[in-house]
Amino acid sequence: MRVAIAGGHGQIALRLERLLSARGDNVVGIIRRAEQAADLRAAGARPVVCDLEKASVADVAAHLSGVDAVVFAAGAGPASGASRKDTVDRAAAVLFADAAEAAGVPRYLMISGKGVGTEPPAGTDPVFAVYLKAKAEADADLRARAGLAWTILKPGPLTDEPATGRVTLAESTPHGDVSRDDVALVLRALLDEPGAAGRTLELVGGVTPVADAVRAPLR
Ligand SMILES: NC(=O)c1ccc[n+]([C@@H]2O[C@H](COP(=O)([O-])OP(=O)(O)OC[C@H]3O[C@@H](n4cnc5c(N)ncnc54)[C@H](OP(=O)(O)O)[C@@H]3O)[C@@H](O)[C@H]2O)c1
Repeated sequence: MRVAIAGGHGQIALRLERLLSARGDNVVGIIRRAEQAADLRAAGARPVVCDLEKASVADVAAHLSGVDAVVFAAGAGPASGASRKDTVDRAAAVLFADAAEAAGVPRYLMISGKGVGTEPPAGTDPVFAVYLKAKAEADADLRARAGLAWTILKPGPLTDEPATGRVTLAESTPHGDVSRDDVALVLRALLDEPGAAGRTLELVGGVTPVADAVRAPLR
């Protein structure tokens, strides 16, 4: 399988690149800083330098030729202000979907977040509220696209604990966190599960093996 990952130097992205390249997939990681290229090569991915806040749809589509699936793993990050929540978490995700459609990529996996699409509680940090709104708009844009077999994955708070290989994955889950290792395992499994298209799934730690969890919501 040929997979392109937006935000290819992200913490989840690097984990997913290692998993996919280890099984022989052809993986492209889209980064905005050339100095990150060596880390992608070490993870088994081919780096492509393309700033998703500056590129055109045609620029990005040119990198997606022949790709079977894309994963949006980019994010402005916790240190960024409100404006980059809009330019990365919303606009770059929309651009990436436009480019995927233009290039004829059939599948799009979005890393969203648990809590995205719900009203933030009173007292929510204003920049975090902008982030939630940007992610919700990106998710809504994706849901409206008939031309992509999309899946929106909404993990709880991310940790750097080692993989357990066991999760809870459902349209609605209890509160809980989940390791980036386990998110990467779920993304890999979702790439192999076309029946997950059109689904929005929350993800937290749990007891169900990933392979079963990815199939279970589809029964
Ligand atoms: N933190 C949480 O608890 C949590 C919970 C649920 C969901 N999420 C979502 O999960 C996503 C992935 O998590 P993570 O920990 O893997 O994130 P991460 O390590 O912050 O990775 C995000 C990546 O996006 C890249 N990026 C930013 N702007 C870009 C641009 N213009 N063009 C190309 N790439 C760009 C960043 O590159 P640079 O190094 O160049 O900035 C970085 O490598 C988050 O962004 C968030 O939306 C997070």
